[in-house]
Amino acid sequence: MNVAIVYESLTGNTKKASELMGRELARAGVSASVFPITRLDYQALASADLVVVGTWTDGISVFGQRPGRAQRLRALPVLNGKRCLVFCTYAINPGKTLDKMTRILQGRGAEVLGGMALRRQDLQGGVTDFVSRLLEAIPA
Ligand SMILES: Cc1cc2nc3c(=O)[nH]c(=O)nc-3n(C[C@H](O)[C@H](O)[C@H](O)COP(=O)(O)O)c2cc1C
Repeated sequence: MNVAIVYESLTGNTKKASELMGRELARAGVSASVFPITRLDYQALASADLVVVGTWTDGISVFGQRPGRAQRLRALPVLNGKRCLVFCTYAINPGKTLDKMTRILQGRGAEVLGGMALRRQDLQGGVTDFVSRLLEAIPA
C-alpha cells in the first residue's frame, strides 16, 4: 500500500503530526510520502492507494470551527474515487472541522473513509491511534 500524506500547517503542529504519521507507517512497512499542500507531489498523489489530508482547526475556540486555510483544500487536484482519510489538529475543540474537510474532499471526488481530530497537546498519542486505526481499516 502506498500512502500520500498532504498537510496544511500554520505553526507546525500539523506538519509534525504528518511527519510522525509517515514514520509510524514506515515502521509498519507501509510506504508513505509526506508533503505540504503548497508543494504537492503529484506523482505520489496519483499513485497513492490512500490519501491522508491534514489541516488545523481555525475558529474562535468553541464555535465556528472550520478547516484552516480551507481554500487550499478546495484547490486540491481532482481525487476521483481515491480513498482518503482526514485529520485535523486542534487546541480546545475541533467542532465540525472534520465534517467540513470531508465535504470539501468529496467535492474533489474523493471517497472519504473517516477521520480523526488530534489534540495538539498529545500529537504522538493521537498519531499512534490514527495509524493503528488506519492499518485496521486498510491492512497493508
Ligand atoms: C487563527 C487560529 C484560530 C484557531 N482556532 C481554534 C479553534 O477555534 N479551536 C481550537 O481547538 N483550536 C484553534 N486553534 C488552534 C490550532 O488549531 C492548533 O494550534 C493547531 O494545532 C495548529 O496547527 P498548525 O501548527 O499546524 O498550524 C486556532 C489557531 C489559530 C492560529
